Amino acid sequence: MIIRWLLFLVWTHCVHGAVEPDQLLWGPYRSSHYFGVRSRVPQSLLCGLMWYNADDFMAIRNIRHFYELGHDMNKANWVEYDPRFGGRQIIDDNEFHVNITIDFVKNVDGHSWGARVQLVPHKGFESSRTTFIWYCGQEGEFNGLFLQGPLEPNGYDNGVELVGESTYLGAYSMYFKPNQGIIDKTKENLVLKDLDPTKTHHLSLKVQDDHVWKAKDILVTILQDSLRDLMGKYENIDSMSPSQIYTMRDMNKYTGNLHFIQHTFEGKAQFDIFYNEEGSSEVINESNIAPMVTRTLDKVSTKFEQSFMLENVHHKQFAHEVLSGLLGGLSYFYGDYLVDRDTKLDEESFESHDLHGKLEGPFELFTLVPSRPHFPRGFYWDEGFHLMPLIDYDSDLVFEIIQSWFKLIDEDGWIAREQILGPELRSRVPVEFQVQLPEIVNPPTLMLVLNYLLEKITGIEEVVEQPIKVTEYAEMDDSYGGGLTLMNNKEKLNKYIEDIYPQLKKHYEFFKQTQIGMFDEFGRNEHDPANTQAYRWRGRTLTHSLASGLDDYPRVLPADIAELNVDLLSWIGVMNRLVKILAELLGEEDDVKEYTAIEEQIKSNINRLHWSEDDRAYCDVSVDDEDENVFYCAKGYISVFPFITKLMDPKDTDKIEAMIDILSDPDHLWSDYGIRLLLKSSPLYKTAEDYWRSPIWININYLILDALKYYRSVLSEYANEELQSRMSVLYKNLRANIINNMLDQWVKTGYVWEQYNDEDGHAQRTKNFLGWSSLVVEIMKMPEQL
Ligand SMILES: *[C@@H]1O[C@H](CO)[C@@H](O)[C@H](O)[C@H]1NC(C)=O
Ligand SMILES: *[C@@H]1O[C@H](CO)[C@@H](O)[C@H](O)[C@H]1NC(C)=O
Repeated sequence: MIIRWLLFLVWTHCVHGAVEPDQLLWGPYRSSHYFGVRSRVPQSLLCGLMWYNADDFMAIRNIRHFYELGHDMNKANWVEYDPRFGGRQIIDDNEFHVNITIDFVKNVDGHSWGARVQLVPHKGFESSRTTFIWYCGQEGEFNGLFLQGPLEPNGYDNGVELVGESTYLGAYSMYFKPNQGIIDKTKENLVLKDLDPTKTHHLSLKVQDDHVWKAKDILVTILQDSLRDLMGKYENIDSMSPSQIYTMRDMNKYTGNLHFIQHTFEGKAQFDIFYNEEGSSEVINESNIAPMVTRTLDKVSTKFEQSFMLENVHHKQFAHEVLSGLLGGLSYFYGDYLVDRDTKLDEESFESHDLHGKLEGPFELFTLVPSRPHFPRGFYWDEGFHLMPLIDYDSDLVFEIIQSWFKLIDEDGWIAREQILGPELRSRVPVEFQVQLPEIVNPPTLMLVLNYLLEKITGIEEVVEQPIKVTEYAEMDDSYGGGLTLMNNKEKLNKYIEDIYPQLKKHYEFFKQTQIGMFDEFGRNEHDPANTQAYRWRGRTLTHSLASGLDDYPRVLPADIAELNVDLLSWIGVMNRLVKILAELLGEEDDVKEYTAIEEQIKSNINRLHWSEDDRAYCDVSVDDEDENVFYCAKGYISVFPFITKLMDPKDTDKIEAMIDILSDPDHLWSDYGIRLLLKSSPLYKTAEDYWRSPIWININYLILDALKYYRSVLSEYANEELQSRMSVLYKNLRANIINNMLDQWVKTGYVWEQYNDEDGHAQRTKNFLGWSSLVVEIMKMPEQL
């Protein structure tokens, strides 16, 4: 007994000493694929799953690999998922008549993982055949991946094992094992011995390092070549089933950096994939995968339950699927991107296709994505919103993602708006949108989310009003598996803030310098010459300001360098507030003084320059033919920007009342499905491409609800009862409308969408938009009433 104990101790010691636990090392981080797994290291093993219907000669044309909106899917999402543990994805493929469940699990140290894939054919298609291809390519090593065991030119009976070694991952093995749905040999009329669909097949080749992602094109070319070859050689090709014809043959002697494993199943099917790193503390194999799946799904649902505590059962299922879908978009990218540092913005005639990019990088980015099928890359404007529902759920992940983004701040303080890193991502973006211009910025939502996060930690809701004190951190129950350590460890948190502070300051200064508006020229700061807080989004065209994030929102026409944008001034206010909080936390007294002064200037100019008493709203500003200042007032989301960014003085109840008027009037922004974008009576409402001109956007609705909650709580001293009760009613109804409509549309369509129509609530634009529309989960968690 004692000896066994000793052995056990020695064993655990060695094993635990071998690898540093990292729950987030592996994941389906190639989120633009239905199931694409990689690790968070620059040169990883890249793996992916493909499938097609094997009864139909033509089906390989629509082989599944990248998640594409054009594929006819009833559902295709992670439905219970957490990046630390794994979870379950369901893909209900209408065209190939199969329902696929993918369970992805990790071992305790995160260095090994497994996947169990199960397929159930739709009713009426019980004996249909489906071919799966699992492929893996090792980046950075030309000779690092091998087939293990004796070579079988006619295929394998018990799955296929690969072994590999790489600088970043060490030694590992990868095992593919079919369990159920094997085709009955006696029924298969085999024409050629080496094209036997009852077996597993393997094919390997050498490809250029950055070509592994082209696995699908490579495979389809090989299969089509093989078909042509067979047609040339055999007259009776018609007697061969598609599953025989499309069987892969290894022509490359079992070595190479890209390996395909193929198996064709009939009817109900199941197979496993195991990746085990050498020295990892828990091997995943066929005897423990089933309990591991159970363990994983349990952990995932417990973590969700504890963090969201929703009572309504319908809400719970919806919310968990939405959160899982959002997290299923967690991605790791590594590569270079195109930047044009030579072209100077010509305000009159700026067109993005005039840009000439040069590659910079490589960079890495750990980020969520707005939509796996449609926008599978990092977006600076979206990312802050993606992280809001995760603040209480897994703040460590939020900190980590924020840091990953802020590492991209360049020497000047700039971050590219869209992160199109590497050739794979570029292949999916039209050329005219690939090149980024360093003068163009985007709403700094990451600073907003960091602000929210720090408010939670410091326990001070009124960051705007009161100085911050970091005192006691609440003891948090971390028993369900991590994600809240930084929040509860003052030293670690301080270190984190120290690390990001210089970069953030630079980033903030960059915004102010590059987006500064004109004031002296138009007598805009005569009363206070020192106050230069006025800004204009750079890079707008006649119809669009992509920088603002609100693309085609109506702005001054024609574009004029005299323009000032109230939403941008508000965003500068958000940035200033955050750097001030960080300066306070770090005890940087001089900075605190400076940012406090700027804060006053920003608030003053929001009202002095942008408040139009005639319109009773905040407006953009420009000049007329006589160079006199005039308001440009396309009433809508930007008219309430100082309100939703909490930059209005709570004592200014007259203006706050005006905000409530705009938001609650059905002729203005109120609709039964959420707050619409532009005034219904505006001449520009629902015109042109109508992207940001009428629909309901969930990110802005979330900010509105949060601001109502904030002002309602701080206003009780100043506002009369009527205003207070109007705010409460507005909040309660708006929150309920958004939840009810999004839930309705989810039941109807099976998906969450990019926008919702303001007249009948129907879902529109991008389907499966689990980026900021996922804020509905956070909205569900907010109190029902104030
Ligand atoms: C198939 O997929 C749907 C989602 O579209 C799911 O609700 C259902 O339970 C699945 N059915 C089977 C038999 O797996
Ligand atoms: C599976 O792995 C476990 C350790 O995690 C081991 O105890 C067991 O023997 C393995 N089973 C098989 C069939 O290899």
